[in-house]
Amino acid sequence: MGDSRSPPQSGANFQHCRWHPQPDPAALQQAALTRILAAASAAREERGRFLIVLAGGETPRGIYRQLRLAETDWSAWHIYFGDERCLPPRDAARNSRMAGEAWLDHVPIPAGQIHPIPAELGPRRASAAYAALLQEVGDFDLVLLGLGEDGHTASLFPGHNWGVADHKSVLAVLDAPKPPPQRVSLSAARLARTRQMLFLVAGRDKRNAVAGWQAGKNIPPRHLTPAAGIDVLVEAALLFPER
Ligand code: 6PG
Repeated sequence: MGDSRSPPQSGANFQHCRWHPQPDPAALQQAALTRILAAASAAREERGRFLIVLAGGETPRGIYRQLRLAETDWSAWHIYFGDERCLPPRDAARNSRMAGEAWLDHVPIPAGQIHPIPAELGPRRASAAYAALLQEVGDFDLVLLGLGEDGHTASLFPGHNWGVADHKSVLAVLDAPKPPPQRVSLSAARLARTRQMLFLVAGRDKRNAVAGWQAGKNIPPRHLTPAAGIDVLVEAALLFPER
């Protein structure tokens, strides 16, 4: 019995998605950067701090690299992760290592404001530890997410538990189809507790996943229902099939 399997998911609640086609990955990066920095300055102005959840995978790497150069008040930034792979902290496939090398190690965010998921503890202990940490955290300001070619997001995989029914904030994933199989993921419900949600979708292998999402297929992104809706920055080629 694994934590990452569940009874069939109920139908998705109403979801409002705004699709923003981008001509190429460079434009997508620029659009993401602009939105992230605007969200940071609005949050800092309104609440004095900016709570952002980072996406893993490859798509955000270039955005994170450019963030190094941003002019912003880094002391207001609080960094969380949407998912993590259960590997040693310095493993090259860790999302926290990628974000560190590309961006976080190069800017003066106070160390105590960077909150990697302690996935090296294994999925069960790490998910419990992160759930305890998040209990003290209110709604996020911005959640960044990617989309996998099979329609997964964070480490919520089609046919697995997305935390829709059981109201868990963090899930232990024991059998992910994308390696490594052991992962930790924020649930769909916890990811949705955010003022803004931004998907970053690039790469031709995502075409079926995008089409499935738009057609209402029962994949994890369909079950994310933040109050303010979802903005999807997507390579235009994925929306408009080539002639
Ligand atoms: C992870 C993820 C995952 C990722 C998508 C897209 O594997 O750690 O967080 O959900 O965002 O698989 O990944 P790419 O950007 O590499 O296509």
